[in-house]
Amino acid sequence: MRTLDLDALLPEIAAQVQPLARQGQQADYIPALADADPNRFALATCDLTGAEHAVGDADVPFAIQSIAKVFSLTLALQHVGEDLWKRVDREPSGDPFNSLIQLELDEGVPRNPMINAGALAVCDVLLERCDDPDGEVRALLSELCGEPIGIDDEIREAERRAGHRNTAMAHLMSAFGNLHTSVEAVMSTYAGLCAVTMTTRQLARAIRFLANGGVDPKTGHRVVPEALARRINAVMLTCGTYDSAGQFAYEVGLPCKSGVAGAIVADAPGRLGMCAWSPPLDASGNSRAGGAALHLLAERAKLSVF
Ligand code: DON
Repeated sequence: MRTLDLDALLPEIAAQVQPLARQGQQADYIPALADADPNRFALATCDLTGAEHAVGDADVPFAIQSIAKVFSLTLALQHVGEDLWKRVDREPSGDPFNSLIQLELDEGVPRNPMINAGALAVCDVLLERCDDPDGEVRALLSELCGEPIGIDDEIREAERRAGHRNTAMAHLMSAFGNLHTSVEAVMSTYAGLCAVTMTTRQLARAIRFLANGGVDPKTGHRVVPEALARRINAVMLTCGTYDSAGQFAYEVGLPCKSGVAGAIVADAPGRLGMCAWSPPLDASGNSRAGGAALHLLAERAKLSVF
């Protein structure tokens, strides 16, 4: 798609989807998310040559929350490769991202690394191998977006304090022998990942290695082998938007990952990295206007993988 087209298309999409934010409700389990401005909106793309397009609040930082799960998964696959799947499965859950029921029925093996239980198992795998796992994920993100990125200590602390369900999941996994380090260390790492702050523009850049066969298009550095990049994309497509992954596959047709602060990243293999941000969420925890923005962008720019 030519530069000119995206220049015109992004503002058009923004105007069309922004009103949908009123149908959503922002996360309220911690003050930083409850107090977020529901009128914030951004949509950004970055292609494999580095050409960027953005509309709205694309340079305003927010907590990336569950979007970090893509990058902690990437780091874990760098460390242990396909052995990771001994600790976490790769099936869509069809349940809310913080559900405990399935974890009990599946004997402590989380359905996939995009839901909370799976991300906790990934943190555990990283803690067994790295001194500072969330620091390493931040370093990876910073390298991929080409800029320093932040962490919000207030959010990190709030996540720790409010993380009762996550702590319960970590204990349950421990009881089944699927947690090898301490619940406290896993929770601290997980909270640090939720509290990483980035902008919509930075996230659109950072996700591009998955659109480029596992290689960062800016530096040429191979992040993961091509086969693993395909697998991460597959897990994002089938599991990245929780119990709405089927709907996202149908409407957007791209590997996507959402976070409760209202951002959704996606990549179009061979083409673009992209990110939409609008804090109000739908019932599954995905940004209402952000999802609609990606739907329209994928349709108008013919990005779907199908
Ligand atoms: O752990 C939690 O419940 C929140 N920090 C939500 C993370 C998120 O974005 C959605 N979860 N997968």
